[in-house]
Amino acid sequence: MEGESNTFNLHSISYHSSVGKGNNAIFCFLPLIKKQEEGIQDFMDTLKREVLSERVRLVKPSGIRKFFDIINTMPDVISLGVGEPDFVTPAHIREAGIRSIQLGHTRYTSNYGILELREEIAALLQRRYGLNYDPRTEILVTVGVSEGVDLIAAAITPRTKMILIGNPNNPTGAVVPQDELEGIARLAIEHDLIVAIDEVYSRLVYEAEHISIAAMPGMRERTLLLDGFSKAYAMTGWRIGYVAVPAHILEAMLKIHQYTVMCAGTASQEAAIEALRNGENDVQIMHADYARRRRMFVDGLNRIGLPTCEPRGAFYAFPYIGDTGMTDEEFAEKLLFEEQVAVVPGSSFGAAGAGFVRCAYCTAYDKLEEALVRMERFLKNHQ
Ligand SMILES: Cc1ncc(COP(=O)(O)O)c(C=O)c1O
Repeated sequence: MEGESNTFNLHSISYHSSVGKGNNAIFCFLPLIKKQEEGIQDFMDTLKREVLSERVRLVKPSGIRKFFDIINTMPDVISLGVGEPDFVTPAHIREAGIRSIQLGHTRYTSNYGILELREEIAALLQRRYGLNYDPRTEILVTVGVSEGVDLIAAAITPRTKMILIGNPNNPTGAVVPQDELEGIARLAIEHDLIVAIDEVYSRLVYEAEHISIAAMPGMRERTLLLDGFSKAYAMTGWRIGYVAVPAHILEAMLKIHQYTVMCAGTASQEAAIEALRNGENDVQIMHADYARRRRMFVDGLNRIGLPTCEPRGAFYAFPYIGDTGMTDEEFAEKLLFEEQVAVVPGSSFGAAGAGFVRCAYCTAYDKLEEALVRMERFLKNHQ
């Protein structure tokens, strides 16, 4: 009923304003128009409320985005906020993408992704973990690892019990040690659980080899392995990743994938083939650079008085800031406004992150050094 009367108001206001236009008669209608405008506002509010799902409206905007919006308006900010390689995609991979377009490969690919790419992914998983996946039925090329995560969530029932692990971890940079992975594997087998493992940082592990839980005895059949190209090959904007899963699970994921995105971008897939065939050296070069930044930056944080556990993977440091007497949000906000250094409050990743801030060290070495100088000064000013 409320909607109907508002609809009526909406019609009547156009009538009144057109009558009044161009003469003083408009003033007679002003209070009415005002009332009608309020009616329109109510109507629009109702419309907004009814159009948007309750669940979506209740989702809080990303805490990280709030900071990015502020950062974009400020000069001379050193951003440790964005978890994205500062490298440009290696030239030969970019050229493969360009070549794909120039050759006119501008149509959809198979919903699964280009077979050659799936074969390269299968070969990679065999090389790295000794795992055998059938490229025809057990590998799906996705729009980034992000899409892979959504497909899992959509393909399983609300009653399915699943453990989701990000390893190496964002935001802490932690790597789950082998004995803990073995413990998780035992638990999963004992309780018949599915394990989804987001390994988008699997090429960014320092001083050790990445271990995939999928390769542990009895785990391949219950593991959803998600990985991609964004971090290892500096390809975030290409939106390309993959899932490797037993065929019956892939079948369910494929249904959602084909009705939502159809396939990953064709040029991105061809660039990804080039990355897997000829990109190993680039991965090593970028890895060495991150390792050098990590050593200097993590040591620096500990030296200036922000206790930081050794992050063994990804490109994040997660210092404890609780001793400053500030909450992580206050710390991040004040650091940004007083010293123009952007970090992300740990609590924006969940309650367990309170008292910490995430610093992405995938930024230039000299900027990281300067960030430490500014952070040290900030701490002294707040002693
Ligand atoms: C843990 C984790 N998974 C997935 C992603 C997104 O990966 P992609 O670009 O492949 O969608 C990110 C990006 O920051 C991430 O930190």
